Amino acid sequence: MEFKFIIYEKSEGVATITLNRPEALNAFSKEVVEEILRALDDVKSDENVRVVVLTGAGEKAFSAGADIKAMAGMTALKARELSLMGESLCLALENLEKPVVAAINGYALGGGLEVAMACDLRIAIENARMGQTEVNIGLIPGWGGTQRLTRLVGMTKAKELVFTGKMFDARAAEQLGIVNMVAPADKFRETVRQFAIELASKPPVALKVAKALINKGANISLDSALALEREGFGVVASSEDLKEGVSAFTEKRKPVFKGK
Ligand code: CAA
Repeated sequence: MEFKFIIYEKSEGVATITLNRPEALNAFSKEVVEEILRALDDVKSDENVRVVVLTGAGEKAFSAGADIKAMAGMTALKARELSLMGESLCLALENLEKPVVAAINGYALGGGLEVAMACDLRIAIENARMGQTEVNIGLIPGWGGTQRLTRLVGMTKAKELVFTGKMFDARAAEQLGIVNMVAPADKFRETVRQFAIELASKPPVALKVAKALINKGANISLDSALALEREGFGVVASSEDLKEGVSAFTEKRKPVFKGK
């Protein structure tokens, strides 16, 4: 597959998508989003891919957000299209039936943080800086930031971060529950790789159903969510992966899950 603005690699069950516009701090353009969506289509159809890692090229940024330079003279209609474009990327990541890990290797600002928050899990390099900084240029988050950030940190902190547009570091993000873990620069790539490989060894059917239940359950009543969990539990129980897990437990060996 040919790409110009991302790097797409697959190894050991892990597909890595690297935003590759380091000269613009990996800001998202229409082309970048289109290429990521194309790579995600390949992820969907390749059963050897079990986990996706999304990261940024260069030392400085995961992504500095939507392309500010393309916003000059933007009409309301164009702004709506820009919002829809980011939302479609975020929903594609959220609805992908495989876990997605954002490897935040530097700045994650505006749309950059919003895309990272649409991933399932986040690992940040120690010197990363994050923020919903849109207010500083007279905007608001437009790729789900007012909603996903609020779900992650609660209204009080979300309002503070969106109203002030201030940046915060990786440790603060960990304390707020925005990132799962923080790794020092010299161990960052290896930490991400090992974590992704470990996830790739888990039963794909169970991860797929758990991801859907957790995402869906956040937006519906507890009663409805528990009913969905019950049905999901039934589906996972019918998988070959469960048989393999139980056999491996009994035979005191490591399970080999096939995603069936
Ligand atoms: N869009 C386009 N280009 C960007 C960019 C962005 N979001 N962020 C950085 N760049 C470009 C810069 O213009 C610069 O390019 P030139 O050399 O051609 O001028 C290059 O990347 C390097 O950036 P800086 O020289 O600014 O680097 P720095 O180290 O001095 O500062 C920074 C780094 C603090 C991250 C600063 O670049 C910055 O504040 N960027 C903007 C971050 C931001 O506000 N993002 C939100 C965008 S709006 C949005 O995302 C809306 C939404 O919700 C969808």
